[in-house]
Amino acid sequence: MATKALIIPAAGSGSRMRKEVPKPFLTLRGQTILERTLSVFMPLGSLRQVIVATSGEFAAGARDIMEAVLPDDVAGEAVIGGAERQHSIRNALERTADVDLVLVHDAVRPFVKLAHVEACCRAASETGAALLGIPAKDTMKRVDDRHIVRETPRRSSMWQAQTPQVFRKSLLVKAYERAAQDRFTGTDDASLVERLGEAVKVVEGDRMNMKLTYPLDLQMAELIIDNIQN
Ligand code: C5P
Repeated sequence: MATKALIIPAAGSGSRMRKEVPKPFLTLRGQTILERTLSVFMPLGSLRQVIVATSGEFAAGARDIMEAVLPDDVAGEAVIGGAERQHSIRNALERTADVDLVLVHDAVRPFVKLAHVEACCRAASETGAALLGIPAKDTMKRVDDRHIVRETPRRSSMWQAQTPQVFRKSLLVKAYERAAQDRFTGTDDASLVERLGEAVKVVEGDRMNMKLTYPLDLQMAELIIDNIQN
């Protein structure tokens, strides 16, 4: 089975959440979001390494959480994140061991299902790159700076990108090198690989795998924990 390293970007400032503590370190029903997220991945076959990117202030906290969650045969490391998500992941990618696949998963998506992670890894083993996504529920509009609609893409062709996004390590390293050369910044990792002209497969996940971004998302998360998940 393909060997794997998991990168967890957790270095966001959390400004949209309007809290002092960054989102991954907020506690939901007695457990930090980061701990919940990491726990999902632990049964994944041939997982060798976990790297969490945090701000310097929270690196020790991330190490403590890894200590509690990671089994003995999975190495854990905290790296300092950057100003943009992409910089945080670049710092973590530099620390990855010699593995076949690199998984990148937002710290703030604790409700991802292991079966979907596994499906995404299988797809990435075939194509080189895969991500979880869901079909767009709303009609999407592309707008200009003045919010004037420039295009209404066919809804059936629009998918919302989630994480994990899984890549052959060599492909992701090349994509990051190219992005640095070109000074390209994307809001996900797959977009860096797409620029190389490589096929990136979308694997259908589900709506529970939401990114906890706004205060309302925390209330939704508590509802999920109390009523649905268990
Ligand atoms: O900002 P965004 O919602 O895209 O953040 C997604 C994930 O990336 C979060 O888990 C956040 O902590 C992380 N992030 C990061 N470094 C940044 C910005 C965001 O690791 N500079």
